[in-house]
Amino acid sequence: MSGLLEGKRLLITGVITDASIAFHAAKTAQEQGATVVLTGFGRLSLVERIAKRLPEPAPVIELDVQNAEHLDTLADRVREHVDGLDGVLHSIAFAPPSCLGAPFMDAPAEDVTKAVDISAYSYKALAKAVLPLLGRGSSIVGMDFDARVAWPAYNWMGVAKAALESVNRYLARDLGPQGIRVNLVAAGPVKTMAAKSIPGFEELENSWGDRAPLGWETTDPTPVAKTICALLSDWLPATTGSMVWVDGGVHATGQ
Ligand SMILES: NC(=O)c1ccc[n+]([C@@H]2O[C@H](COP(=O)([O-])OP(=O)(O)OC[C@H]3O[C@@H](n4cnc5c(N)ncnc54)[C@H](O)[C@@H]3O)[C@@H](O)[C@H]2O)c1
Repeated sequence: MSGLLEGKRLLITGVITDASIAFHAAKTAQEQGATVVLTGFGRLSLVERIAKRLPEPAPVIELDVQNAEHLDTLADRVREHVDGLDGVLHSIAFAPPSCLGAPFMDAPAEDVTKAVDISAYSYKALAKAVLPLLGRGSSIVGMDFDARVAWPAYNWMGVAKAALESVNRYLARDLGPQGIRVNLVAAGPVKTMAAKSIPGFEELENSWGDRAPLGWETTDPTPVAKTICALLSDWLPATTGSMVWVDGGVHATGQ
């Protein structure tokens, strides 16, 4: 039986550990027949080491989404490994400590700017950088944490995610005529390096399973990885500008 992503060429950002959502998306994608190219930020030798733990070792390209030269040369550097792309995963977020867990009212503007730049604006910057490689039927996926409400501790990252949700809609509007779909996966909490860096987020993680109609395991990234792969596949061909919740159903319940 052929895999869901047979023959697909994917660029996957955001691997930093083997707990990263992006690592599990890459693993599931390879298991479903995709060819994967990774991007890494900063600690390249670490990302290269993690990449070797995938079913198929994947090449790693350097990408700091705040670095204009990295973005300008990205398409050419991807072309050294694949002749085009059918899908891209944006799995990137960062906020300075003042923006997470600390009093919401105290975060300085420059820290908020950095959080929004890396976590939301970069979704557009990445899409633009790889656009020359994308054809009709290709798919761009980003990672969201439902930003319609104010959460404990999530603070300015929540604001950045609200911006990301809006960027998602505008990208879908502008890239739709080229046959490119753009969607977000709104995941429930998964224990990763990014999640651990949010003081006070643990309480939310611990109660999620009790509130989720389907239950929820914060240590199991598989449902999130599978949903990313579904959006990267040909099986949601008329879906764009959407967010797909993978949260055990918490979003549909009263809190
Ligand atoms: N873990 C969760 O509970 C959860 C829930 C919903 C959404 N998400 C989202 O999933 C995505 C991936 O996070 P994760 O939980 O796998 O954590 P993670 O720490 O494994 O991944 C975050 C990634 O962002 C990258 N990054 C940070 N700054 C960058 C920059 N300037 N340029 C390029 N890359 C940069 C890091 O290198 C890292 O690979 C994020 O968008 C996060 O907000 C996570």
